[in-house]
Amino acid sequence: MTADAAAPALRIGPHTVWPPVVLAPMAGITNAPFRTLCREFSGGKGLFVSEMITTRALVERNDKTMHLIRFDGSEKPRSIQLYGVDPVTVGKAVRMIVDEDLADHIDLNFGCPVPKVTRRGGGSALPYKRNLLRSILREAVGNAGDLPVTIKMRKGIDDDHTTYLDAGRIAVEEGVTAVALHGRTAAQHYGGTADWEAIARLKEHVPEIPVLGNGDIWSAADAVRMMRETGCDGVVVGRGCLGRPWLFGDLVAAFEGGGAPAAPSLREVAAVMRRHAELLGEWLGDEERGVIDFRKHVAWYTKGFSVGSEMRRKLAMTSSLAELDAHLADLDLDQEWPDGAEGPRGRTAGSKRVVLPDGWLEDPYDCSVVVGADAELDTSGG
Ligand SMILES: Cc1cc2nc3c(=O)[nH]c(=O)nc-3n(C[C@H](O)[C@H](O)[C@H](O)COP(=O)(O)O)c2cc1C
Repeated sequence: MTADAAAPALRIGPHTVWPPVVLAPMAGITNAPFRTLCREFSGGKGLFVSEMITTRALVERNDKTMHLIRFDGSEKPRSIQLYGVDPVTVGKAVRMIVDEDLADHIDLNFGCPVPKVTRRGGGSALPYKRNLLRSILREAVGNAGDLPVTIKMRKGIDDDHTTYLDAGRIAVEEGVTAVALHGRTAAQHYGGTADWEAIARLKEHVPEIPVLGNGDIWSAADAVRMMRETGCDGVVVGRGCLGRPWLFGDLVAAFEGGGAPAAPSLREVAAVMRRHAELLGEWLGDEERGVIDFRKHVAWYTKGFSVGSEMRRKLAMTSSLAELDAHLADLDLDQEWPDGAEGPRGRTAGSKRVVLPDGWLEDPYDCSVVVGADAELDTSGG
């Protein structure tokens, strides 16, 4: 979408988001350091959502959770993603965010496909129980004051039990500001390709509020194509940014019509890796912990480059910035961006049977349903 075919800015309540591009919440990834990196590449443009925070842990002021919700002073608006299964606890968490001025936007996660969560009726199993979904949204919106509340969901449990159209309608009725759809069912996990037609269908179904499309945006061109093909109001980009925070710079250029920034050489990638590890150390208050946390990003950053399995192993075992510097200096840094770095990255595992509580599918409107609090225990996201 070049400047002459510009998309309108995305409105999330009082916040104007331009270009209409959102960093997907990713547990263990989209912490303040990673958001900072992405924002640096975008020149501050776009919206960057926190890692998922469970509502119970927030209201209980769990130490780790209180650390996770910290934003860098330069983050505006501050977007927190919450996950909760109990309407009252969700309401309390939202009220806490408002009263303590912890964020400017709240996103609710209904997309987690992990068996230990769906087995208890949480995550992407939850919207099947329409009335429970409605109660959660009502408590969230009712306690949010002026803060916009958005939701992020999958298409449903499986192809025979899709929920996204009903969930979109319920979201509109309960005053949700925008809905994001990952075009996969829980059964698909991360396999196959995301169904962008479902995003178009949701857009037609809930014309009252912005619809954000999510799934399989691997390049800025994919983002522009998703907007064109589905008519969605914005895009949410997840795995495409793993080891590639500069994708946000490409996205801005694609939407603003500027020339695409040159793809980085390995030397430039190495400098970003170094900075990412350093930021993590500062954020965690401990260099070693930062470098250890950074290890999970190494394979994504080096994807497609000739690095060699021995060096990849060494990089993924690093415990200090000095060691990281030494290994990075040993790389053949003059390599240009390889074709092999394009396309899918991150989780791609396909279909799994969705484990549900007994009788879960019998009555979508069963009002007596209570989802066990342990459905909030998993933190691996969406
Ligand atoms: C490592 C990882 C962690 C994730 N954590 C979350 C999460 O906390 N909340 C959420 O709504 N989705 C989460 N997701 C799902 C993404 O936000 C996104 O919906 C999904 O990856 C599809 O988009 P993509 O094709 O652009 O990656 C996670 C995905 C990955 C790969």
